Amino acid sequence: MAPYDIRRYQDHDWETVRELFSKGMLENVSYDFWPILKKTRVILVFLGVPFAVVLWSGSLVLCLLSLFGLLAGLWLYFRHVIKQYVYNSLNTDLLDIQKSFLSGRDSSFWVAESEHQIVGIIGARPAKTLIGGGKYQELVRLSVKRSFRGKGMARTLVRTVLQFARDQGYDGVVLETTCSNHPAHRVYESLGFWKSHETGYYLNWWLGFLSVWHYQCDFSPQA
Ligand SMILES: CC(C)(COP(=O)(O)OP(=O)(O)OC[C@H]1O[C@@H](n2cnc3c(N)ncnc32)[C@H](O)[C@@H]1OP(=O)(O)O)[C@@H](O)C(=O)NCCC(=O)NCCS
Repeated sequence: MAPYDIRRYQDHDWETVRELFSKGMLENVSYDFWPILKKTRVILVFLGVPFAVVLWSGSLVLCLLSLFGLLAGLWLYFRHVIKQYVYNSLNTDLLDIQKSFLSGRDSSFWVAESEHQIVGIIGARPAKTLIGGGKYQELVRLSVKRSFRGKGMARTLVRTVLQFARDQGYDGVVLETTCSNHPAHRVYESLGFWKSHETGYYLNWWLGFLSVWHYQCDFSPQA
């Protein structure tokens, strides 16, 4: 892999940063789709509808078509939900990255640059609430360009956030990720993060919630 540097975000990075974030999130759709398929309600519909179709029509072809139709419909709906999340992110903190992350000393945004190309991004900002009475930073917007993955770049970016949080006198770092993002879990757990609790991202009345894992890394006073 070509060498890379981690540096602070600059205004001319704006477009690439937003693109890297969007692509990373949309690539995760396939990971995040599987837990949805395992929900009891979804399994029941996926068994019940094709069964009803075969009873009604006596046609195996129609039965299979109904199954693929359901699968495609659910996939497109789920992709739409993730696209909506990306759209919201691009129109909130990622709209004016300079203002959101670089206007005070308590937040920051970094890019990994290799041969004048941005190949990784990460941000940090104060967590919204105190955690166990302590002040934590929140790690956000981690994404690595596909061709640069699996080579330790995410770990380097996360270490940058950990160092920043320590330097600013914080008690640790927290973050959120989806339950099925195994590469991200691996990165965080190898750097001392532990899963503190689970919440849900609301999808709709039928699908319910997508499970969101909350990770936490606590700095010991001596660290
Ligand atoms: C998650 C992500 C940032 C990881 O970036 P990366 O540079 O590839 O990460 P690293 O190389 O530092 O480490 C990846 C680890 O995941 C492991 N991994 C890769 N695919 C895996 C899989 N399917 N299941 C389990 N582990 C996996 C790698 O083996 C590696 O661990 P190891 O070094 O112990 O072997 C990258 O996949 C990405 O940008 N994804 C899209 C955006 C995203 O999900 N961001 C995180 C939001 S919380």
